[in-house]
Amino acid sequence: MERSSCGGDRRFRPVIRQFEIKDLPELMEIDREVGGGYSPELFMTFHEYHPQTMLVAEIDGKVVGVAIGFKPTPFEGRVFWLAVRQAYQGHGIGRSLLSAILRIFSRLGALSATLEVRIGNRRAQKLYASMGFVVDNVIPTYYSDGEAALIMRKVL
Ligand SMILES: CC(C)(COP(=O)(O)OP(=O)(O)OC[C@H]1O[C@@H](n2cnc3c(N)ncnc32)[C@H](O)[C@@H]1OP(=O)(O)O)[C@@H](O)C(=O)NCCC(=O)NCCS
Repeated sequence: MERSSCGGDRRFRPVIRQFEIKDLPELMEIDREVGGGYSPELFMTFHEYHPQTMLVAEIDGKVVGVAIGFKPTPFEGRVFWLAVRQAYQGHGIGRSLLSAILRIFSRLGALSATLEVRIGNRRAQKLYASMGFVVDNVIPTYYSDGEAALIMRKVL
């Protein structure tokens, strides 16, 4: 796949903004596309309780990616989900979304950020490592299919 980094190819330069209710159908499409398995109710709960850290990436009016997080404690930000539509992957959109949500966590007082990722999801791990996340813990059989999770942490 041809790839360009964040800010490179103009066709892939997204506007990052807060999720709005009208985005829900597109969010569900992304969920189906990348196998998130989340429900509309869960997304609406995030929208209700954590609107500042529920972001979408938009290109030409189309929602192409999402970053969802929350603050489990006053000093920690948790990235709950990061996803980019398949046709838009590899062009810096995931990196832009992650940078944006980390900036917001910082602004909201978080001193560190954590996330969990499937041990087999090398692509996402590479992104997280390149943004300064390090493995904090490994939880065997974390996911319902038995796969282990890496817990990764970054000091903000
Ligand atoms: C993980 C994901 C969000 C990354 O988004 P993206 O927009 O494709 O990523 P970016 O283009 O910003 O790339 C950022 C980094 O990811 C890695 N990466 C991206 N595409 C890659 C590829 N095809 N192969 C290997 N690494 C890749 C690289 O480290 C890249 O940095 P670089 O461009 O400086 O080399 C996206 O692939 C996705 O939605 N995957 C499915 C859902 C998922 O696994 N989410 C994460 C777990 S919750």
